[in-house]
Amino acid sequence: MDEQLKEIIERARGQAGEIANRGGFEAFKASFVGPQGSFTALRKQLGTIPKEQRPEYGKRINEAKDQLEAVFAEVNERLEGMELAALIGPAVDPTLPSPDRPVGTVHPLTQILERIVGIFEKVGFTVASGPEVETEFFCFDALNTPPEHPARDLQDTYYMPDSTRFSNVSKHGEERYLLRTHTSSVQIRTMLKEKPPLRILSPGRTFRRDTADATHSANFHQIEGLYVDKGVKVTDLKAMLDHFARELLGKDAKVRFRPHFFPYTEPSFEVDFSAEHLGKVGKKWIEIMGCGMVDPAVFEAVGIDPEVYTGYAFGMGIERIAMIAYGVDDIRYFYQNDQRFLNQFA
Ligand code: DAH
Repeated sequence: MDEQLKEIIERARGQAGEIANRGGFEAFKASFVGPQGSFTALRKQLGTIPKEQRPEYGKRINEAKDQLEAVFAEVNERLEGMELAALIGPAVDPTLPSPDRPVGTVHPLTQILERIVGIFEKVGFTVASGPEVETEFFCFDALNTPPEHPARDLQDTYYMPDSTRFSNVSKHGEERYLLRTHTSSVQIRTMLKEKPPLRILSPGRTFRRDTADATHSANFHQIEGLYVDKGVKVTDLKAMLDHFARELLGKDAKVRFRPHFFPYTEPSFEVDFSAEHLGKVGKKWIEIMGCGMVDPAVFEAVGIDPEVYTGYAFGMGIERIAMIAYGVDDIRYFYQNDQRFLNQFA
């Protein structure tokens, strides 16, 4: 009896390593503990054993059963490991970059900005940059915008608390810091650093206290242009902007100047574009930018002799142009990072 049990356990242990799938495992188990199994046959003999030997025999049977179950558990665990591995697939190195990571697209505002900059670069403008945190001097005073001017109103400008310090934003005197309301401040920083002739373009972020709606955002983008040289005339400005409109919107684009007022240019104009082939524009005139001839007071503030030099300046909103060029009817789409919107500009 003992011999037979021992033989069964050994056989079970011997065969266990060869089981490679669930089907094999079931057949393997059945050959021992199934209705026709060798272990089942031995267990059935319990009834035929003389009474006094039964407890001893029962104990042996139970021990053997535990041993068999241990073998089954081992096989089961090994099979589970194999099944899990099959499910997971080959080993991966999680530190490697994903092979199918989607490549992003250039944001539509950046695309239009690059196109605009490209047009002006071709005719000799270079890109200049200035800080987004400005001071009142660069944003207003030097641009001939006096303290009582409504543009400085606390209502529409973000001022920094008096105690704030920005080591990378130079001040003129003791004036306050603010988030720049326009990129025109870069005109001043550039003219204080460099001598004419100057031909710069300055794209960047600007800030105004505003309630967000389909056409307003408290944070938006502008491109500033400035050309200073001897003998620059209004006709140069008009010619440049005509060229710009046609390059950007197509040869049928038209430009209209309307007299306007800006403190830093004289004369000043608002500029409208029309482009019948663009659905969003149609026959309408759409206001695109402000411009004019640099006011002599601005030249004096930066130490350029207005008797020798003249110049033109312009400033335009990038969102407005992107909305026209791409037919977008709500400015907020640009800031929501919704891929359904962004993917259309791939
Ligand atoms: N700074 C003006 C604005 O934010 C735009 C502007 C108008 C810029 C006339 C200029 C200019 O350079 O000459 O609305």
